Amino acid sequence: MSDCKKFYLTTPIYYVNDVAHIGHAYTTIIADSVARYARLKGMDTFFLTGTDEHGQKIEEAAKARGKTPKEYADEVSGKFKSLWDEFEISYDKFIRTTDEEHKKGVQKAFEIMFEKGDIYKGEYEGNYCVSCETFFTETQLIDKEFCPDCGKPTRKLKEESYFFKLSKYEKDILNWYKEKTPIIPKAKANEVIRFVEDGLRDLSITRTSFEWGVKLPESINDPKHVVYVWLDALLNYITALGYGSDDETSMEKYWPADLHIVGKDILKFHAIYWPAFLMSLGLELPKNIAAHGWWTRDGEKMSKSKGNVINPKEVADAYGLENFRYFMLREVPFGADGDFSEKALIDRINNDLANELGNLLNRIIGMSYKYFDGKIDSKDVKKYYLKELEEVETILDSLEPLLYEMQIHKYLEELWKVFSLANKTIQDEKPWELIKENPEKTMALLGLVANILNRGSFMLSPVMPKTMDKIADSLNYKIDTVNYEKYIKNKNILDEFIIKKTEPLFPKIEKPLLKQVEVKKEPKEETKEVKNEDGIITIDEFFNVSLKIGTVKVAEEVKKSKKLLRLEVDLGEGRNRQIVAGIKEFYSPEDLVGTQVAVVANLKPAKLMGMMSEGMLLAAKDENGLHLLRPEAPKKEGTPIK
Ligand code: MSP
Repeated sequence: MSDCKKFYLTTPIYYVNDVAHIGHAYTTIIADSVARYARLKGMDTFFLTGTDEHGQKIEEAAKARGKTPKEYADEVSGKFKSLWDEFEISYDKFIRTTDEEHKKGVQKAFEIMFEKGDIYKGEYEGNYCVSCETFFTETQLIDKEFCPDCGKPTRKLKEESYFFKLSKYEKDILNWYKEKTPIIPKAKANEVIRFVEDGLRDLSITRTSFEWGVKLPESINDPKHVVYVWLDALLNYITALGYGSDDETSMEKYWPADLHIVGKDILKFHAIYWPAFLMSLGLELPKNIAAHGWWTRDGEKMSKSKGNVINPKEVADAYGLENFRYFMLREVPFGADGDFSEKALIDRINNDLANELGNLLNRIIGMSYKYFDGKIDSKDVKKYYLKELEEVETILDSLEPLLYEMQIHKYLEELWKVFSLANKTIQDEKPWELIKENPEKTMALLGLVANILNRGSFMLSPVMPKTMDKIADSLNYKIDTVNYEKYIKNKNILDEFIIKKTEPLFPKIEKPLLKQVEVKKEPKEETKEVKNEDGIITIDEFFNVSLKIGTVKVAEEVKKSKKLLRLEVDLGEGRNRQIVAGIKEFYSPEDLVGTQVAVVANLKPAKLMGMMSEGMLLAAKDENGLHLLRPEAPKKEGTPIK
């Protein structure tokens, strides 16, 4: 960042199958803070975000809601955009992959790669995770079926497909990692390097089994194919700059990207596929790709079915948007997974913001009105407090490099040292006594604190822009590029001014303000959980449930229980599962042995009458009794029900 005049940074474009949650907000807030810092430094900054709207996942989500994919995408994309606007995210462009210019750019890129000989036609046979929109080989799957990334069941695919010669770029990609070390943090880079070193296979980049995607360029004349959603999506980073259009001035000005910010789950696409596509297109590679970790809630993975997903708007409404921004960036080291706990948020607000920073402003306002009618004159700061001032400047000089390395939590931690130093100096100097002996030194002390607040407000403004404007207003300057140069780069001391009284910036939080969520336990045997208010679940939610055919090998009564039978069921896993089922009133054990049943295979094991039950049988019950659901014809054990 330091040596370039322009700065182009991006967030991932968000899938429109879901509303924005804290993970999306996190990526976007990091990017927004970095963009604001670059602008403050006077860089010509371009900050891109948007929505990823094509693919099977979106097509199916729309269908489940009785909407066309476009109607559905318009609706959800609109919600993302309004949320970012409400959060005052300073994006320069919000791209949608359904934009005509984007689609044209994708076709153009496809054509160039094709003409270069990097794309060939073949047949794809393998497994596909719709949720991650990712292809997997058999060996990559868990239990030969489940997606290694998200754990959901994959689907078998066999279809004609165009392939991209990813393998051709293996060496060049490895060289790029070595020469430019573009991946942040290093630990994540090592994972990617190992993955590439294990060998890259060519990548299937078109699909024929659904329609919701960018069509291939006319020159290829193969209308049943649409472009694979990740190729389509990654290209947004250049189509947003006009790639493939009549006007490529932005492309010339801003490409290559200086920083792609992504979550760790999508680093592979950005650090392997993306550079390969760019090499094929003859374009420069991004300077940095930074991957952050994932957020959990109170130590638990967030999921809709647990009801513990955090809505960023609720948090911002309850605690203040900028407090929320500070918390997210300060709480977790970039790259590590983070846990959202309301207590941690309250502690950050009460300790860091209210006690350290807010208190400092209150103290200086209070003292200056008590002793000097609100006047603050910094002319003697260096005479009395040169050591403190130098210490502050040393800390401030160390901040920018931390930002380049995306060590934002460290940046904030270090910044807080200057506020602590100011509070400690007040404590040590006891101005309430000092004023009696040495008013000149007391004024210098106020000057020192004012200058610390001045420096601090510039450095904190990318994260808390409005709050820092309030500090600046109180101390009679503006936070802008000219003043950044004056105070931060050239280290000027504040001119004399009258401090303005302000409301406390960070009222203390006495008790939790969010609606308390109780993490729902896994649904019990008979309780059917309603997922949404309208009872509708998405196809993805449905596929979260793994249903399989099994054969009952052993059945016996559970003593002392009127209802339960203990079964051992073969699900083709090489061992039988014990399932305790409440069907004793309707089936005798001998009726069951050798018959087939339908089993919910991915239920969390539960204890019933002291016995572990590792699944649940599907059955229907009405006034005519209970009947198990069974296949019409015998099926192999473990056959999935879809
Ligand atoms: N559409 C793709 C990205 C294409 S970019 C060319 C996609 N979209 S996403 O909506 O599923 O995810 C977007 C971002 O949100 C990812 O960076 C992902 O890591 C992040 N997060 C989603 N859940 C998250 C948490 N619980 N915590 C932190 N970030 C996580 O992937």
